[in-house]
Amino acid sequence: MRKLENILVTGGAGFIGSNFIRYVFKNTGFKGKIINLDKLTYAGNAESLSDINSEFGDERYSFVHGDICDKDLVSRVFIDYNIDTVIHFAAESHVDRSIHGPAEFMNTNIIGTFTLLDAAKNFWNGRSDVLFHHISTDEVYGSLGDSGYFFETTPYDPRSPYSASKASSDHIVMAYNHTYGLPVTITNCSNNYGPYQFPEKLIPVIIFNIMDNKTLPVYGDGKNIRDWLFVDDHNSAVWAVVNNGRNGETYNVGGENEWENIKLVTALCEKMALIKGKDKNNFESLINYVKDRPGHDRRYAINCDKIKLELGWKQTVSFDQGLDLTIDWYLKNTQWISNIRSGEYKKWIEKNYGSR
Ligand code: NAD
Ligand code: TYD
Repeated sequence: MRKLENILVTGGAGFIGSNFIRYVFKNTGFKGKIINLDKLTYAGNAESLSDINSEFGDERYSFVHGDICDKDLVSRVFIDYNIDTVIHFAAESHVDRSIHGPAEFMNTNIIGTFTLLDAAKNFWNGRSDVLFHHISTDEVYGSLGDSGYFFETTPYDPRSPYSASKASSDHIVMAYNHTYGLPVTITNCSNNYGPYQFPEKLIPVIIFNIMDNKTLPVYGDGKNIRDWLFVDDHNSAVWAVVNNGRNGETYNVGGENEWENIKLVTALCEKMALIKGKDKNNFESLINYVKDRPGHDRRYAINCDKIKLELGWKQTVSFDQGLDLTIDWYLKNTQWISNIRSGEYKKWIEKNYGSR
């Protein structure tokens, strides 16, 4: 039986991690404590959890500002909070950034994961009621043609510095399981969307730019395909695996919801036009095909039968519902948006892309 009382969540100030912490406190009946260790990079925003901090702070929620590569700090966190479970979200997560500056990806995603694993191994010292759960991506499997799916058994074939760094971390997690007997699980998930996603990923970029009447950048021919999943559905899968997943196993998680980028951008234009009471052509005319991403993976598509059959997990939010929820959230949370915009992100995006 897993103890699951004092959970160390890394990267809990980011998009998926902040939604995860909220999901666990609000939807699962969890009675224990969550410790959120986050470096607050450009993508981390402690404000995303201000509601959780007010409601659960001190007693059941603590924030530690720090780097997962900092061995002394990480070891101290295990001791100070008597950690029995790690749910590891912290990462550099954006493919475009990994192309412009891969070093930080190697550092955080590989060295950071290794540092956490080693601290867990030393602190847990052979215990079996503990778990290190690693959050990974379907991008480790490479790129698909027109047909086929990624299975848990698909050989790894990462193609971007981001996916290569995530693949490395997955291998190190499994090495700690095989070599030292550390209890581990991994989830490899497809593209997430939802509230609090940093406006560098496709869906928030398009929503933001429509709101600002700016051009909508579509890479290459716009026919690359991604499999989209609402963030709470990813987080319910993580929770299912943390509770009942088998030690040493990998579980694929996906939306079974493939969209060509251009079709998704057009759907967002239609939804925004309805909301704003305008003709969709007003927004579709903003679509701008731009230079393709180097090494741009063509298609991702996940087979997630294993988690469905073994753990009874399923997606609950349709794409139509999820996009409506997401657009509504961005339209209502203008303060979050303006704070994000005044930060590092803006400087980076302007340096690399000009003001798009
Ligand atoms: P994000 O970029 O929104 O958030 C990452 C968080 O990690 C931020 O809060 C950041 O401050 C923190 N962080 C970065 N470096 C750190 C360090 N050295 N020490 C401590 N904290 C650090 O990312 P996300 O989209 O929420 O992704 C979370 C995880 O899920 C990542 O591991 C990513 O690879 C994986 N994943 C993401 C998607 C997706 O579609 N976004 C899909 C599948 C898997
Ligand atoms: P992204 O959200 O960056 O996720 P990932 O690269 O991890 O899949 O991109 C999703 C898809 O959208 C990908 O095929 C690249 C494309 N894309 C654009 O066409 N325009 C954009 O401005 C962005 C950010 C992405």
